[in-house]
Amino acid sequence: MIRVLVTGAGGQLGQHLRESTSEYPDMDFTFVSKEELDITDEIALDTFFNANPVDFCINTAAYTDVDGAEKLAEEAFRVNATGVKLLALLCHKHHVTMVQISTDYVFDGKKAEGYYPDDDTNPINVYGASKLQGETYIKHILEQYAIIRSSWIYSEIGKNFYTTISKKLREEERIGVTNAQRGRPTHARDLAEFILQWIKNESRSYGILHFAGPEIMTWYEFAKKIAKEQGLGHEGKIVKDNNYRSFAPRPAHSVLHMHKA
Ligand SMILES: NC(=O)c1ccc[n+]([C@@H]2O[C@H](COP(=O)([O-])OP(=O)(O)OC[C@H]3O[C@@H](n4cnc5c(N)ncnc54)[C@H](OP(=O)(O)O)[C@@H]3O)[C@@H](O)[C@H]2O)c1
Repeated sequence: MIRVLVTGAGGQLGQHLRESTSEYPDMDFTFVSKEELDITDEIALDTFFNANPVDFCINTAAYTDVDGAEKLAEEAFRVNATGVKLLALLCHKHHVTMVQISTDYVFDGKKAEGYYPDDDTNPINVYGASKLQGETYIKHILEQYAIIRSSWIYSEIGKNFYTTISKKLREEERIGVTNAQRGRPTHARDLAEFILQWIKNESRSYGILHFAGPEIMTWYEFAKKIAKEQGLGHEGKIVKDNNYRSFAPRPAHSVLHMHKA
């Protein structure tokens, strides 16, 4: 049995990993939410790792409020950098392979061709900087790890772009959506599958990997796609909002590529 720990299990990706477990009968999963295991609590982490031996740790725990991170930078770094460092140190001590989920926001979005795993990083917001610091700690502490960068993760559960647009389509007359950023929306179920397949594959490659959905689009195009998928009329309802400004700057073209052609 491969023993797999999933931290941050109450979140969107954590819930999809949980849904996938039945397809992996040779894995023994332990899911812990923030309430059950806070990754910034050094003593709780140490106690947990001593009592629960595992082979892999999938860390989905993160401070994910991109706008909030601009105001609460210390909190974003506490979870996304210091918490990740504590986990990596314990993974090292207990010979656990760490799977960390990272983000396209480690890039500045200025590269028209999109980004490969070994491209230079240059985050333009606090969230991206905090996630990159987490990546750096893992690279320094561990040899056997996967840092899986993904982008625009969505699903039919939790609070994400998909559920927000779905709700607004039912409630509002007109929805303004920015057309200024381009990326690859990624269904949380597909990312969960990619992670578990990586663990299952004995000839897995370690290091930084990219995994993102197949289609490149803007948020405006994504909103129209969501409406179509749900059979909700959107003609004239979803409009390009060229004046849309978010609190945190966001990369304009954060398209992740998995492999060099
Ligand atoms: N969502 C995206 O578009 C996106 C894109 C690229 C990469 N990612 C990365 O993908 C991963 C999963 O994202 P997601 O969409 O599943 O995010 P999510 O739904 O916000 O889930 C993150 C979970 O981590 C928990 N958490 C926060 N602080 C914690 C702590 N100190 N200890 C333990 N758990 C803690 C959160 O609990 P509370 O909600 O109670 O705080 C939440 O349940 C994250 O690493 C994120 O950075 C996300």
